Amino acid sequence: MKILVTGGAGYIGSHTVLSLLNNGYEVVVYDNLCNSSEVSLQRVQQLAGNTVEFVQGDIQDKSALTALFKQYPIDAVIHFAALKAVGESTQLPLAYYQNNVHGTLCLLEAMQVANVHQFIFSSSATVYGEENAVPYVETMTLGTPSSPYGASKVMVERVMADVALANAQFKGVSLRYFNPIGAHPSGQIGEDPKGIPNNLLPYVAQVAVGKRDKLNIFGGDYPTADGSCERDYLHVMDLADGHVAALDWLIKNEQFTGVEAFNLGTGTPVSVFAIVNAFEQATGKTIAYDVAPRRAGDLPAFWADANKAKIQLNWHASRTLQQMMEDTWNWQSNNPNGFDS
Ligand code: NAD
Ligand code: UD1
Repeated sequence: MKILVTGGAGYIGSHTVLSLLNNGYEVVVYDNLCNSSEVSLQRVQQLAGNTVEFVQGDIQDKSALTALFKQYPIDAVIHFAALKAVGESTQLPLAYYQNNVHGTLCLLEAMQVANVHQFIFSSSATVYGEENAVPYVETMTLGTPSSPYGASKVMVERVMADVALANAQFKGVSLRYFNPIGAHPSGQIGEDPKGIPNNLLPYVAQVAVGKRDKLNIFGGDYPTADGSCERDYLHVMDLADGHVAALDWLIKNEQFTGVEAFNLGTGTPVSVFAIVNAFEQATGKTIAYDVAPRRAGDLPAFWADANKAKIQLNWHASRTLQQMMEDTWNWQSNNPNGFDS
């Protein structure tokens, strides 16, 4: 089976490509490298002892996509390619809607022309918005995310639902990720944010390696047990395996058409203070921090009801918080400047 992976050079994509290769799938990666490096794919190939076809290109380039589907007999598409910085999306909404929504429309059109109907989409817990109570369950009506980034994910989920109504062959899966962290245990691939990290774990790791002075903990007065926000952090290798489970499920379920959404999370909320403690314990490093004002748009706490993926996909997140911290540190300390190290 040949799988097209858009955005496959990025953080989650590269770990997923490795899991796909290790499970016997052939992979074609299509990525414009706007937020990644081809070095990630070189390392994936070394780790897998197997090769990946790489085509550099943009998902908004319709003629390149048409040529891609003509060149390779693709069985299914896993679609990671997107811009993902929440704060930046509020400054550049048009760029986010162009890339994330228009880009997905171009990809779905090219798939339709090429008669490819199996599609797995990188969605996010942010689609539940602030209206829904926690833990989030797939049966909930989607909410109103606080950013254009989040809105772009809701829009694509809506597009998938409408495509499925119009095309009886369409088999779509929307994977709603909670908070992926960590790295492959080899320390060869991991998250390599450009500039100042927006997300918690890359920031903590950069404090530990001496690139940043101290962590700002955004808010110590939330209505949670210790006053800091709670999230559902899962190991990126569990997330990668979740994609393989979803793909296996799509392929085996020949009768299935339509769209199915799955939460990919652990089902357990963990606070920012608990993350700092866990990182210190797993690595022996001390993380200097200040408790700073709340960050605009942050919700106090959200986590997954993770039962649907467990029952239907036979998948659950099995790696521990300690493994997430150790693997983050292994990657960061071996590659202090990411793939440029
Ligand atoms: P990433 O930035 O590391 O990977 C995205 C990849 O897509 C990059 O390699 C980038 O170069 C590529 N890309 C972006 N726009 C493109 C375009 N127009 N054409 C071709 N390639 C393009 O991000 P990630 O963390 O690996 O996220 C992957 C997906 O998962 C994204 O859709 C993101 O929105 C979603 N997601 C991520 C998180 C998270 O916490 N990292 C959480 C929920 C959902
Ligand atoms: C972010 C996105 C969300 C996306 C999710 C996926 C925002 C507002 N939301 O969520 O759309 O689906 O990633 O992973 O960016 N924190 C600090 N100090 C820091 C960085 C973060 O205290 O320097 C705190 C945050 O306030 C939050 C927690 O750490 O409580 C996690 O933050 P982050 O990693 O940015 O993820 P989310 O905010 O959950």
